[in-house]
Amino acid sequence: MATLSLWDTWASIVIIFALGCYHVPAAKAGARAFFVFGDSLVDNGNNNYLVTTARADSPPYGIDYPTHRPTGRFSNGRNIPDFISEKLGSEPTLPYLSPELRGQKLLVGANFASAGIGILNDTGIQFINIIRMWQQLEYFREYQHRLASLIGSHRAKKLINKGLVLITVGGNDFVNNYFLVPYSTRSRQYDIPDYVPFLISEYKKLLKKLHDLGARRVLVTGTGPLGCVPAELAMRSRDGNCAPELQRAAALFNPQLTWMLRELNKRYDSHVFIAANTQLMHSDFITNPRAYGFETSKVACCGQGPYNGLGLCTAASNLCTNRDKYAFWDPFHPSEKANRIIVKQIMTGSTKYMDPMNLSTILAMDSGL
Ligand SMILES: *[C@@H]1O[C@H](CO)[C@@H](O)[C@H](O)[C@H]1NC(C)=O
Ligand SMILES: *[C@@H]1O[C@H](CO)[C@@H](O)[C@H](O)[C@H]1NC(C)=O
Repeated sequence: MATLSLWDTWASIVIIFALGCYHVPAAKAGARAFFVFGDSLVDNGNNNYLVTTARADSPPYGIDYPTHRPTGRFSNGRNIPDFISEKLGSEPTLPYLSPELRGQKLLVGANFASAGIGILNDTGIQFINIIRMWQQLEYFREYQHRLASLIGSHRAKKLINKGLVLITVGGNDFVNNYFLVPYSTRSRQYDIPDYVPFLISEYKKLLKKLHDLGARRVLVTGTGPLGCVPAELAMRSRDGNCAPELQRAAALFNPQLTWMLRELNKRYDSHVFIAANTQLMHSDFITNPRAYGFETSKVACCGQGPYNGLGLCTAASNLCTNRDKYAFWDPFHPSEKANRIIVKQIMTGSTKYMDPMNLSTILAMDSGL
């Protein structure tokens, strides 16, 4: 059904071309706005402004960023939102809490993500002060008021409706909640096969709220292969294989997420939500790092202990010399090079990676229509 209507849309584009009444917009009136929600995989620096232990604002974070300074991104350089901004022809989104986000900068969009958060309010409590999902959505509402006072409510609404949204959340509900300590509250309450549907139903509420707030194109990434990150190899793996309980959790979560998104699209009768299979994207280079130019997908570039997977990445950690040879920058987060590969798949991947379509198809469909 999804594929059918995609082809319907393509067919109508072809017909419009054939009839010769398709007008290329005279000048690009600025790229479409971009809004980012979620956790550390997509945080551009909101946590710099908070009293929290979940932060990436000291060296060597940012060592390969254009400024070579830490920015709050959990990467040696750019992250997934940065590469998507680049594809949109925009500057990177500013963190919502940044004082620089005012005036014309509001037209670029905003990044509401906060490291440590999850779908559930009780995820990441150990990080103290972080912006939980419901608060991110509240800030999105506040942003819209600020935007409306700048350009008027009609234009503001249009900018939101035409904007692109990225949301990445869920990994912490396992790593920084269910599996954080043995006998965690959530693990005593749920088995994993029941916890996953609970997370999905809570996630669905968040996505409906995002739709209520005007979002009409939303890229939703699943979790990566949670058990394969250097931190889990260091803590849970005896033989260097991915930690099975986390892999099992991710294998349940990701397909159920895709089904939930299809359900929402059916309900809204539109391809609002696009599933990005980041598990598969990651698995590709975890199974075959050399094919992607990596020397290792097990050892983090920055860290200490087995696989450089223990503790935080700090100035005192081991640090690799060539970051592009590592799939993982720190014990939990992909390197800039890995982020670039992931965004390439988001842009041009087949339906195996992007359901129901990739970002280049979306951009082509949405331009001039
Ligand atoms: C999470 O917190 C928000 C805001 O305080 C609240 O509206 C929401 O219902 C909470 N969610 C759950 C599952 O308790
Ligand atoms: C994007 O997705 C479409 C449909 O699945 C596919 O045909 C195309 O090759 C993909 N890549 C690009 C660059 O459009």
